[in-house]
Amino acid sequence: MEKRNGQRVILFPLPLQGCINPMLQLANILHSRGFSITLIHTRFNAPRASSHPLFTFLQIPDGLSETQINEDPTSNVMSLLAKINVNAESPFRDCLQKLLLLQSQESERISCLIDDCGWLFTQSVSEILNLPRFVLSTFKATFLNAYPILPLLRTKGYLPVSDSEAEDSVLEFPPLQKRDLSRVLGEDGEELDPFLRTTVETTMRSSGIIFMSCEELEEDSLTLANEIYKVPVFATGPFHSYFSASSSSLFTQDETCIPWLDNQEDKSVIYVSLGSVVNITESDLSEIAWGLINSKQPFVWVVRPGLVRGAQGIEPFSEEVVRSIEERGKIVKWAPQQEVLAHGAVGGFLTHNGWNSTLESICEGVPMICLPGGWDQMLNSRFVSDVWKVGIHLEGRIERREIEKAVRMLMVGSGGEKIRERMNVLKDEVGRSVKHGGSSFRSIETLANHILSL
Ligand code: UDX
Repeated sequence: MEKRNGQRVILFPLPLQGCINPMLQLANILHSRGFSITLIHTRFNAPRASSHPLFTFLQIPDGLSETQINEDPTSNVMSLLAKINVNAESPFRDCLQKLLLLQSQESERISCLIDDCGWLFTQSVSEILNLPRFVLSTFKATFLNAYPILPLLRTKGYLPVSDSEAEDSVLEFPPLQKRDLSRVLGEDGEELDPFLRTTVETTMRSSGIIFMSCEELEEDSLTLANEIYKVPVFATGPFHSYFSASSSSLFTQDETCIPWLDNQEDKSVIYVSLGSVVNITESDLSEIAWGLINSKQPFVWVVRPGLVRGAQGIEPFSEEVVRSIEERGKIVKWAPQQEVLAHGAVGGFLTHNGWNSTLESICEGVPMICLPGGWDQMLNSRFVSDVWKVGIHLEGRIERREIEKAVRMLMVGSGGEKIRERMNVLKDEVGRSVKHGGSSFRSIETLANHILSL
């Protein structure tokens, strides 16, 4: 076991799969550097402590009723997070206070708190308790940098966007296009804007921001983050390059897709997953199914319970569709995503472009077809298609012919060849950053030393 350094870090993830994965990966990174780890978590979406025997897990109440916990959490993520942000404040403060009181009896010192930028009360709590707090951004730095201007964009009169302006760039927020704005800003600004303002204000009071990103992907945005928030910025790389996300999965992963992939030709399979929170309609599900079937490429498709609201899986399909799917495809409720992307048979990823999925795809050199749901996914998708040019952005509504065309172009078309070449270059650049001496590797060292010096 690695030598311990006598310091303990307290981590507090937001209870969503896309936030729990990076926080537990960061826990592993810090643990490998000698820090002991305590992870405070809500009852809702509690991580599996048994998968991480080296860490201490402490559960706090979140005030959600059984019904709220059991109903589909993706039906309104914003209002769920708003509730938990109110309910968890005092249990969190009590828990942290107790830990700090107890530390005088322990041989270790609690050096800092690291929590998600989506927690609104943690900065104030850490200030009262005199504990330095670092913010973990599970978004691309470019997106966190836009938090101060998002409420202003709403008042700028960009929306609604006319057809003639749809493809224009949003000058304040490149490479976003005006047609992307409504799905970033949402419809209910009254709920979102105070959340954005508090996040900006508390992040500026923090001791630093940790980005799951690297200079090779966004050097300018990282510099800008430091200028906007005026705190140290650590770009410690795609965390899963150091530690896999598998052990922090909230859902049971269906491993049967791996032997299925073993029987497919090299780079022939398109992997399809829209992450843990995106919802689509029954008609979208059907369009994706026919797009995949008609593309004649083999596919692995994650249809998680709740992807279509109220549905557990593929029950909305007719027998005819199921038969056609089974001829070429494998459907699972949840996949071991990193393993799938690393499999030699996988040659493309139809993704919603959550930041974790986008990074995991880049690190495995898998080009993407982008079908973003909203929020930061719109931005990630534009970076993939318009800046790095390692994928194809599907515009407009989900439509079978567009999906079929994109799959064929990416997997077998000549346009796909160039995309694959660029993806290989990007994969190598990002891969170098996490190796000994690379920019991300050095940033982890700087972060560890910074925490030790507090
Ligand atoms: C959410 C937001 O939607 C996203 O925009 C933000 O960047 C992070 O928080 P989510 O939608 O779940 O996350 O997407 P993503 O960031 O891609 O995270 C999903 C994680 O679940 C990935 O680590 C992926 O490997 C894992 N996963 C996904 C699986 O292990 N199995 C699956 O079948 C699907």
